[in-house]
Amino acid sequence: MKPIKVGLLGLGTVGTGVVRIVEGNQEDLSSQVGSPIVIEKIAVKNTEKARNINVDSDKLTEDPWEVIRHPDIDVIVEVMGGVDQTKEYILEALERGKHIVTANKDLMALYGSEILAKAAEKRCDVYYEASVAGGIPIIRTLIEGFSSDRITKIMGIVNGTTNYILTKMSQEGVSYEEVLKEAQELGYAEADPTSDVEGLDAARKMAILATLGFHTNVELRDVSVSGISSVTKEDISYARRLGYEMKLLGIAERQDDQITISVQPTMVKKKHPIASVNGVFNAVYVHGEAVGETMFYGAGAGEMPTATSVVADLVSVIRNVKLGVSGLKAIAPYKEKRLISDEE
Ligand code: HSE
Repeated sequence: MKPIKVGLLGLGTVGTGVVRIVEGNQEDLSSQVGSPIVIEKIAVKNTEKARNINVDSDKLTEDPWEVIRHPDIDVIVEVMGGVDQTKEYILEALERGKHIVTANKDLMALYGSEILAKAAEKRCDVYYEASVAGGIPIIRTLIEGFSSDRITKIMGIVNGTTNYILTKMSQEGVSYEEVLKEAQELGYAEADPTSDVEGLDAARKMAILATLGFHTNVELRDVSVSGISSVTKEDISYARRLGYEMKLLGIAERQDDQITISVQPTMVKKKHPIASVNGVFNAVYVHGEAVGETMFYGAGAGEMPTATSVVADLVSVIRNVKLGVSGLKAIAPYKEKRLISDEE
């Protein structure tokens, strides 16, 4: 059977997990899609760097264009991060008829509409499950699982780094600075952890979730954001004494056709299920008019959980290619949004 050739942009934490899963589960994956899946070329910053995974050096290149322009590659998996330059790579890959799997929430929150419009023009797929809540399949749940309902609220812990920090501060009484370093070493934090701790990473994810859940086009600037950098051990212990846990909570609500979205440190009553989501775990609560309350829980960052979502997207894309169909029509801005802030 002719193999499906994949180009990988990035071999950091998530990229390494992708290679491990594609190689380790090859037999099962290829039986699911009916062809072997081969990672043909990998773009990295430095081909000489020591890695904790063995990769054939012929596959490595420092030039991402070599991957994008490779004539045999059908699908590009982007796990390198970055926004403006990365957008150019993705748009060029789509122009060449290649399908995209990306874990890049910054890219999708900022340029999702443009990228999806190009994908539609070229009849290509763009899947981005890993961009929100790591290993929790929340994007396909919102697009497919709740397509029949009218979602009124999406609330969640969608940043693993800050939840890890707040949990350690709460349970071990350590300071913010000490735990941040640990979260970076574990590969949870972004290259620049400012976007984690100042709430921007969570805001981008909430913009994506609100766009999908409310069938409109929510942008980062629509989200009111405040992070955890000024939360102290004392704030947390005071909250606990009152029967609350401090969580960085994203809340997106729709009332009639008005939407409000925020990310902020929030005191959550200990008996609420979100209060017991600890460490790198994420949870997303979704309320729909018909379904009522639902909640999804799992690891929100880290090599293998995030790579699980990336490779699941890869399987979906390959299945679509084989069936000759195009997949999830995500982030279609069905109608103009009305934000409460627009009316102030
Ligand atoms: N820095 C992100 C987090 C990685 O901590 O949640 C996963 O998106």
